[in-house]
Amino acid sequence: MEKIDYLVDTHAHLDMPPLNGEIDRVLDRAKINQVGQVISVGIDLDSSKEAVRIAAEYEPVFAAIGIHPHEAKNVQQEDFERLQGMASLQEVVAWGEIGLDFFKEYSPPDMQRRVFEEQLDLATRVGLPVIIHDRDAHDAVVEILGNYAGQGLKGVFHCFSGGMDLARKVLDLGLYISITGVVTFPKSRQLQDAVRYVPIDRLLVETDSPFLSPVPFRGKPNEPARVAIVAKTVAHLKDLSIQEVAHWTTANARALFGLPRI
Ligand code: NI
Repeated sequence: MEKIDYLVDTHAHLDMPPLNGEIDRVLDRAKINQVGQVISVGIDLDSSKEAVRIAAEYEPVFAAIGIHPHEAKNVQQEDFERLQGMASLQEVVAWGEIGLDFFKEYSPPDMQRRVFEEQLDLATRVGLPVIIHDRDAHDAVVEILGNYAGQGLKGVFHCFSGGMDLARKVLDLGLYISITGVVTFPKSRQLQDAVRYVPIDRLLVETDSPFLSPVPFRGKPNEPARVAIVAKTVAHLKDLSIQEVAHWTTANARALFGLPRI
């Protein structure tokens, strides 16, 4: 077994405040906590461009480009063309975050679906893995993804928020499951059961920073260094060592996103 002793934060928003004002220090603190690589994820055209710019400037950072379901109502047709043009840049390792959010419903559901499917078409065409956002839309997201299963679909359910039933469906689709600091919250029993259930070779870890700080930093701005707390919690739940969790989740992230070795 190849020795991998660093973690990858597979989902952060380094373009958002307060992270965007101190990226050097954020990456220093990440490194001190054994977090060696970070994927900065776009939510619209501008933040996708910003993710690419940050990834070009900082060696440990990689970019994901895409339009979040909240932003579906603001999309112009040419945004898809611009994203497609960015997809082949060497900094870009994924298409996302994309999906459906029926909890906040900032954009009408029909519009969310159309924007989601359009981006699944593009991502599968260019061969990029997708980063899926699913909030209170499990059935619809699984149904849509099922239509792409035979078309080289690869990707991850980011900030997984379901239980074992949803986990089984996601695994059947051939996708990875990514865990945030929500797993440290006392009320996350169902999620903790799902973490126990999912094989370690299908798990990723992330912060979704600046959001979702784990206990004991709950409510404060989150940052990539704290993915170490997520990994520690996953290790505890699965009765594995932190080294085993680092090895597998980083190997998984490298396999999915094609990240280089450090
Ligand atoms: Ni996010």
